[in-house]
Amino acid sequence: MSATPPPPTTANQEPAPPLHWGIVGCGWVARDYVAPAIAASANGRLLALCDLDERALAAVQPHEAGLRRTTSLDEFIQTPGLQAVYVATPNAHHARLTQALAAAGLPVLCEKPLARTATEAAGMVAAAAAHRTLLATAFDQRFHPAHQRLRELIQAGALGTVTCVRIHYACWTPADWRPDSDQGTYQNWRVSAEEAGGGALIDLAPHGLDLTQTLLGEPLLDIVALPQRRVQNYAVDDGAVLIARSASGVLLSHTVAYNCPDAFPRRTLEVIGTRARALALNTMGQTPGGSLTLTHAADGRVEEVAFDQEASPFQRQVEAFAEAVRTGRPFPFPAANYLHTMHLLDSAARPQAHRVAPGRAAAEPSPAMFNTYLDDRKAS
Ligand SMILES: NC(=O)c1ccc[n+]([C@@H]2O[C@H](COP(=O)([O-])OP(=O)(O)OC[C@H]3O[C@@H](n4cnc5c(N)ncnc54)[C@H](O)[C@@H]3O)[C@@H](O)[C@H]2O)c1
Repeated sequence: MSATPPPPTTANQEPAPPLHWGIVGCGWVARDYVAPAIAASANGRLLALCDLDERALAAVQPHEAGLRRTTSLDEFIQTPGLQAVYVATPNAHHARLTQALAAAGLPVLCEKPLARTATEAAGMVAAAAAHRTLLATAFDQRFHPAHQRLRELIQAGALGTVTCVRIHYACWTPADWRPDSDQGTYQNWRVSAEEAGGGALIDLAPHGLDLTQTLLGEPLLDIVALPQRRVQNYAVDDGAVLIARSASGVLLSHTVAYNCPDAFPRRTLEVIGTRARALALNTMGQTPGGSLTLTHAADGRVEEVAFDQEASPFQRQVEAFAEAVRTGRPFPFPAANYLHTMHLLDSAARPQAHRVAPGRAAAEPSPAMFNTYLDDRKAS
């Protein structure tokens, strides 16, 4: 069973009304994952959809009466009762749309990467701050129960001193790639530098960089990456290796690829410590489930770590965001956290080592920027 937070109550103990969501960009991730997650969520309801393509709008379920579907952003923004917006367009449009939504006072949960560059992302963070609205990057993998359990284990010292994190996050993305569920609307913007901001690195590495910082509870500071164009027939990178070092000295080694056949192991997260090594298989990605084991240094024993196999990271994410909007309590990841990760990505795209120094982000990267929803719930 999925563990959902109980609905908040009002002063007279009536359940608070659900948060009314809208979605801008109704393609693959919105249609297959986030619209269903909002519909299933304990504290939210879908009120409006916006997309430039009528066919994309029509493909989103459920077909409830009262769900507005529009190709006009202005009409979307004026939907009566709209309280929060999830943005899932190609990366090139995140900044302009988020700034328009923030100017209308709407909280925004925007897909990763927050933008194509840190400069674009800084404009989004500034707009949210100027209009005093919430802005967050949709890093759903933070909300995967295996990752939340792993963070607890790391923070409790079960792995001893953590020395390194190794992540392999890869897939097969040829120029004509499309999601299995595509209904003829998908254009492969992922392989366009203009639309995506890059290739495999900018698409896949945000998850690994964010997850590492969230698991460790501290920022990555030094980073270098080597991109490759090896197999696929397009102008952006189809693979990359990134190495980074955290504030306390943990090393990250992270491979991303669009040139890895889907039949191979391609969603692997490993955290190595002096007391135990954690291995999470098939927990990164869009789906619940996967496995988590600990190998103990003392005797080589391999221990299965139990976690909720059914809980959707996307559902947990929209519930956490809705809870922050409804209660006014801070979402546990401040905007400076996302901006720091965008600076890491910008630096990784350059061919020499960079330190993403405090001061380049909107605020100094600090452990408090990398706490988790789980911690927030425990504290509340
Ligand atoms: N967190 C994850 O696991 C995950 C998975 C997939 C995609 N994503 C991210 O989600 C975003 C969307 O990816 P996708 O695969 O769903 O893309 P997609 O191409 O399937 O869907 C994008 C939709 O946005 C619409 N669109 C484009 N410009 C628009 C505009 N100006 N206004 C309104 N609608 C517009 C398109 O018509 C299309 O229907 C990307 O930023 C991507 O990186 C995240």
